[in-house]
Amino acid sequence: MSLQDKTVLIGITGGIAAYKICELIRKFQKAGVNTKIVCTPNALNFVTKLTLQNLSKNQVYVEEFDVKDWKPEHISLADEADVMLIAPATANTISKIANGIADNLLTSIACAFSKKMIIAPAMNCNMWNNQSVAENISKLKSRGVEFLEPDTGFLACGYTGKGRLCSIDKIYNTVLEFLEYSQKLAGKKVVVTSGGTIEEIDPVRYISNYSSGKMGFAIAKTAYNMGAEVVLITTKNFGAPFKIVNVKSAIQMQNALDDEFETSDIIIMAAAVADYRVKNYSAQKLKKTSDEELVLELVKNPDILQELCNKNQNKEKIIVGFCAESENLLENAKEKIIKKGCDYLIANDISRKDIGFSSEDNEVTILDKNGGMKHLDKNSKSIISRQILEYIIHE
Ligand SMILES: Cc1cc2nc3c(=O)[nH]c(=O)nc-3n(C[C@H](O)[C@H](O)[C@H](O)COP(=O)(O)O)c2cc1C
Repeated sequence: MSLQDKTVLIGITGGIAAYKICELIRKFQKAGVNTKIVCTPNALNFVTKLTLQNLSKNQVYVEEFDVKDWKPEHISLADEADVMLIAPATANTISKIANGIADNLLTSIACAFSKKMIIAPAMNCNMWNNQSVAENISKLKSRGVEFLEPDTGFLACGYTGKGRLCSIDKIYNTVLEFLEYSQKLAGKKVVVTSGGTIEEIDPVRYISNYSSGKMGFAIAKTAYNMGAEVVLITTKNFGAPFKIVNVKSAIQMQNALDDEFETSDIIIMAAAVADYRVKNYSAQKLKKTSDEELVLELVKNPDILQELCNKNQNKEKIIVGFCAESENLLENAKEKIIKKGCDYLIANDISRKDIGFSSEDNEVTILDKNGGMKHLDKNSKSIISRQILEYIIHE
């Protein structure tokens, strides 16, 4: 990995621990990592622009409306950076970011930032225990932001408790580990499907399912963060910095997959594809009749996962299926992986309300074609995605 090509955007906020970041910037410099510094105006009460400028060998950004170019800084800085680190992060800035408030350069960048964000909070222990702050931190964690928990000890405000900025070594190692991780899928093309397919009955009605598409989206986003070229084929609306192909029906999803198949390295079928579609689609809205019953005739949809596996006879590609079951999860999953011949199958228990469909969390078991199994404990869909992808590429 070439660290010289990487840029870490460091956001500094108005906390007493701001001075410690000078040491962190020096460490990045020694490792050859490019650092760009953005401060909240309040941070400059604790550390000077001149110091940060000299240490980072770059301009230090504070003013949002000091626009030198056609592209405002909150967008260009967000675009250029590979990772955004906010350290120390005050209770104030954390809470603003969690709620989409963008009232200075740093919070505007955070709002426009769609890549990896790492936050190292530091504050008085009572602020740390404040319920609003805790809820805002949980909100950000569930959206994939990584938090480096503060340490417990003597605080600058005179209290003893939890709130000290974690060690500079810990922050440095976490960022470096991420930069390394961000290369793990470099040069690979990952195609992911997500969402329940929509099988139209007539121009206003359809058959679908409860799949929110969030798991597939989280996998696509994680693969992108790991350096892959990503294509997400989905029935849902997502904004993302990678290619998105919007489809409705199983047939459209299959066609989109066919277009991407040859050039792909890994295909992950997280979509909930309808087993059946309506046999006779009505171009006109079906009218209510005097009959008490209406019979819709259904025909089988193609088994997309099976057909992909059949096309992959020379095993050049890694094909991953999902198995959503409401009962006998592992028995059904074991049967399915043998029947389909895919490399991995992710077994998903949809009977539980706290995970799966529409939830922010999931808990799954990965099965591999050689009979191996790995259970992933309940976690956010973004962490589960990372664990799935790392398992697949390390096997
Ligand atoms: C001496 C001093 C030290 C402070 N240290 C912290 C701190 O460590 N953590 C924190 O959350 N707020 C701290 N504050 C309060 C913040 O500076 C204040 O909430 C401010 O609005 C934060 O602005 P910012 O988030 O835009 O940087 C401190 C204030 C003062 C006066």
